[in-house]
Amino acid sequence: MCGIVGYLGPKEPKNIIIEGLKKLEYRGYDSAGIAVIHDGKTKRVRAQGKLKNLEEKLISESFNGHLGIGHTRWATHGAPNERNAHPHQAGEISLVHNGIIENYLEIKAELIKKGTEIKSDTDSELVAHLIWEDIQKTQNLLQSVKNTLGKIVGAFSILVMWEKSPNELIAFKDGPPLIVGIGEKEHFVVSDVQAAIKYTKRFVYLNDREIVHIQGTDVKFMNAKGEPIKKDIVTVDWSEDQVEKAGFKHFMLKEIYEQPRAVAQAIAPYIDTDTHSILLKNIGYEMTDLYKKIDRVFFIACGTSYYAAMVGKYLIEQIAKVPVETDIASEFRYRKPVMPANTLVITISQSGETADTLAAIRLAKECGAQTLSITNVAQSSIDREATGHMYMNTGVEVGVASTKAFTSTLSLLNILAVQIAKVRGKISVADEKQIVQSLLAVPSQMETVLSYDKYFKEAAAKLAEFKGFLYLGRGVSFPIALEGALKLKELAYMHAEGYAAGEMKHGPLALIDKDMAIVVVAPSDDLIDKTISNLQEAKARGGKIISIGTGENEGLKSMSEFYLPLPAAFWTTNPLVAVVPLQLMSYHLADHLKYDVDQPRNLAKSVTVE
Ligand code: M6R
Repeated sequence: MCGIVGYLGPKEPKNIIIEGLKKLEYRGYDSAGIAVIHDGKTKRVRAQGKLKNLEEKLISESFNGHLGIGHTRWATHGAPNERNAHPHQAGEISLVHNGIIENYLEIKAELIKKGTEIKSDTDSELVAHLIWEDIQKTQNLLQSVKNTLGKIVGAFSILVMWEKSPNELIAFKDGPPLIVGIGEKEHFVVSDVQAAIKYTKRFVYLNDREIVHIQGTDVKFMNAKGEPIKKDIVTVDWSEDQVEKAGFKHFMLKEIYEQPRAVAQAIAPYIDTDTHSILLKNIGYEMTDLYKKIDRVFFIACGTSYYAAMVGKYLIEQIAKVPVETDIASEFRYRKPVMPANTLVITISQSGETADTLAAIRLAKECGAQTLSITNVAQSSIDREATGHMYMNTGVEVGVASTKAFTSTLSLLNILAVQIAKVRGKISVADEKQIVQSLLAVPSQMETVLSYDKYFKEAAAKLAEFKGFLYLGRGVSFPIALEGALKLKELAYMHAEGYAAGEMKHGPLALIDKDMAIVVVAPSDDLIDKTISNLQEAKARGGKIISIGTGENEGLKSMSEFYLPLPAAFWTTNPLVAVVPLQLMSYHLADHLKYDVDQPRNLAKSVTVE
């Protein structure tokens, strides 16, 4: 994953690059580094660990140049230490890299044979050596970058500067995102617009195998052969304060609290609030026609987005009566899927850059499927691959643990299920109205359950005594159980498993004792009685129950150590509200245990490597 920032312009680059890296730290935080041209020489500072370690090292440093590159790392090749931190250098070349060089062993062997001294364990450093080797012959940075591209195999994006040419910056993208910020006589090259949004709102998104060549105030775009290409400038309307904590202790908590507004924003473009109906006008003719013809839907996603997809299966099958399959992207892309004619593949990705999901949508297209992307980032790589588009519209999600993107997606899946059903004539006006009214009620229902914030803050110490957590649910609550368990694992580093409540007796029941907490998502729907029977089985074996139910459900309450009532809702929107207490529980457990809530260990927000 990794975050990249490059700057060429009239200002002093150090602070611009560090500020940019701060906005990208969610992409990786094992180590960080910066290289700036200073008095005609490259000055490089790197540090292991979080960006603050680099900042401390930089306090006494000053730079007088106008060109610099920076990087925050998520280790793939080589341990997360200072010698493996970027920028890497070879001779007069400095380079930052995001991605993986697949043929690095051959390149390394070749370089060692020629007597090159390799200073790190990374694949990235090797690219710097290849460019340095070449530039000594060409004396031309662009030419040497192009010559080097032909020697590298993999998915990689690089940003390169040459000490001898302090007014020149070159980037190449093949895989991980790179975006060029166009400012007033200054340019930025960044992994995510957040890193430069303070300085410009005008961006150019590089496609795979494209180069940007910035020289002075001039910027040129070309393909990997160096042939000029025309690129559009996109104006991004995110504001800088969207990426601030706004008084909250963590971004995650802020984003949990933003959910009522996020859901309202996500559904607003699709709902006629006078008639309580769902609009078809913004689907586009192509998709409307497609929704009529489809025989099957495949959802493909990773992590939390995959759990949203699982909810989507229940919604589309039950509302639109179309068969649905769900796939984890990393499985889909290698299982040689059979795609019958008239298949619609829907990818879900908050970032729009997840490498496996991107590969999956490309594969789906090769197999002849039509595609719809649900993402939070317009113009992201996945969004650009798809025919149809739906946007979460939640604003930036900074916390590595996904929260508001998940609930916004669930609201869009309600809308999508109704749209498909409407186009196919499978839903009555009354049923549509019920779904719309439930959706419109979600923001205020979420406000109500946000009051569990205080409750979990107080309960965290007691909850932290449990040795393990089993999350259970049935129907649409099953993916919510999986999502609850994922949140606890990634934030509080505690063992947690999500299970379909009815599956418990097929194995997990053996885990249950007094130290095991059973977190059950059991809103009052058609399956509640069955879930309660499963809980009796767990209770009889000493399990301690934390339950989330609808209203004052006395049966559920009497079995539980902790009972959290939810407002009454229709089955289609229960997941949106039920997940909020689970998010708060994981947040407070992690905070109580003094873990880094926004940047959990070993993880990154945008997983742009396989
Ligand atoms: O950007 P995406 O939605 O494609 O990301 C997918 C997963 O990496 C992501 O949901 C991950 O599981 C989150 N950290 C979960 O909170």
